[in-house]
Amino acid sequence: MLVGCLLWGFTGKGLYKGEWPTLESFHIVAKKCRVTCKRTIIKGEKFVMAFTKPAEAFLNRNTMLSRRRFLAGTAVGGCLYGLSAHAAGSPFSTTTRSIMAFELPPLPYPSDALEPHMSARTFTFHHGKHHAAYVTNTNALVKDTPLADKSLEEIIKAAAADSGKAGLFNNAAQVWNHSFFWNCMKPGGGGTPTGALADGINGAFGSFTKFKDDFKNAAVTQFGSGWAWLVVENGALKITKTANADTPMAHGQKALMCCDVWEHAYYLDYQNRRPDFVQAFLDHLVNWDFVASALKG
Ligand SMILES: [Fe+2]
Repeated sequence: MLVGCLLWGFTGKGLYKGEWPTLESFHIVAKKCRVTCKRTIIKGEKFVMAFTKPAEAFLNRNTMLSRRRFLAGTAVGGCLYGLSAHAAGSPFSTTTRSIMAFELPPLPYPSDALEPHMSARTFTFHHGKHHAAYVTNTNALVKDTPLADKSLEEIIKAAAADSGKAGLFNNAAQVWNHSFFWNCMKPGGGGTPTGALADGINGAFGSFTKFKDDFKNAAVTQFGSGWAWLVVENGALKITKTANADTPMAHGQKALMCCDVWEHAYYLDYQNRRPDFVQAFLDHLVNWDFVASALKG
């Protein structure tokens, strides 16, 4: 039986919050209602989620308590949300975490939803094998260490500052990078950004066309495995590229968008044609709504 939200309310920061008895019950309904989980915090054996719109339909369909009853319990809800403060900063579900371990977050769309630009077969390996392995490795590397109860972002930053933790950094950063990458795409994506994001891109790069050219150039010229990024650094939009697992948060940058240019991201669909893959990403896959939310968040 699907068990719904035990307690829900508003955070006052444009997010909804809710307390759930199991991760499975949350994710089944979240996937159905296209809710994006922004923060996941463990409280005893319960899970406190902060999530984005369109949460209203999600809540209306699934909450077990009336809004009146929630309002009576607002003080409790506020307390629960306060516990999530240390995980602030991610505009997406980086991972979900059970009592002892991180878990592979589900894709935000069906595995065949991005075809023909990114195939279900690619997702079978890229999400189901590579991303899953990074999660497994991260769990193994933090188990029984002082980092065992830290958030993924805290683990990445701690490992980045310790040359003796390169293995942990590589795996934890790849968990974060891939979770972010999935959210940077959507079925029917591409097109052009709007609003403040469009203004920012035009201001930083001269035009959207120039931005696409520069981003593609960064992605194509990254030698070997790595990532191309749109980031905010010192208040300015910037295109960067990183090698292997390296990630903007390790450099004081805020990630807005990324494209995975490891061969495992495109080889099944494009073989050696990385430029074609990056062009398809820009023209047909980018979720500009997500990028805009990352800029605001
Ligand atoms: Fe990858």
